Amino acid sequence: MLTLSNLSKRFGDNTVLDGIDLNIKQGEIVAVIGPSGTGKSTLLRCINFLETPTQGSIEIDGHQVKASERSQKAIIELRKRAAFVFQNYALFANKTALENIAEGLITVWGQPKEKAHAEAQAILNDIGLGDRANAYPSALSGGQQQRVGIGRAMAAHSKVILFDEPTSALDPEWVDEVLGLIKQLAQRRQTMIIVTHEMQFAREIADRVVFMEGGRIVEQGPPAQLFENPQDPRTRQFLARALKH
Ligand SMILES: Nc1ncnc2c1ncn2[C@@H]1O[C@H](COP(=O)(O)OP(=O)(O)OP(=O)(O)O)[C@@H](O)[C@H]1O
Ligand SMILES: [Mg+2]
Repeated sequence: MLTLSNLSKRFGDNTVLDGIDLNIKQGEIVAVIGPSGTGKSTLLRCINFLETPTQGSIEIDGHQVKASERSQKAIIELRKRAAFVFQNYALFANKTALENIAEGLITVWGQPKEKAHAEAQAILNDIGLGDRANAYPSALSGGQQQRVGIGRAMAAHSKVILFDEPTSALDPEWVDEVLGLIKQLAQRRQTMIIVTHEMQFAREIADRVVFMEGGRIVEQGPPAQLFENPQDPRTRQFLARALKH
């Protein structure tokens, strides 16, 4: 359903992604782990062209965009298929929770305002924020803001949701409610790629864990295999450190 082929990204002469090949099935939940600066965020950002890959191609649900032959129209079509949840929520400060969720339905999907607002309200109810529809982000807790960020991704009806460390900007007290919502999406078999430092969470939620280092996929497999029996010394070293914390 999602295929990355030889995906590469250079910033100047710094090769940050070095020929990534990845195939993800409909309904699959993939966690991406790895040391800081290894290209995890860049990988996610290249998938919906928040960053422009230098080389390679991305295919989601039959729609392919090549780095070499991209058009704005093709990129917009790709973005309809892949929604992004940002570490720092990235909500519109001057829009209410409801308007933040409805925005994409109106601008990207061309829904009339009433329909978009009705759908946004249904999503707010679903994510346990039905009574906060008219609250602005500044009046919401970090956990609530990130739930709205996830609600916005849900509204896009995307084939895949891309999460870049969705809980790492949160105070510890709000982490569980956000992880809980992501688990709820996982139970519905929403296809997702989640970059995370939460190893326990990755282990619980993912069908497959991908370990990246130096812009490459070093090793991947089911969580039990990757966490209990890592094959590559780099994976072992990373996990030994990560699991100590
Ligand atoms: N816009 C940019 N311009 C130049 N270099 C960049 C840019 N974005 C990222 N990089 C570089 O690309 C490399 C990978 O960064 P990236 O943010 O993808 O790593 P990461 O694995 O997400 O790290 P972390 O775990 O700290 O979030 C780093 O060396 C970073 O400095
Ligand atoms: Mg990152």
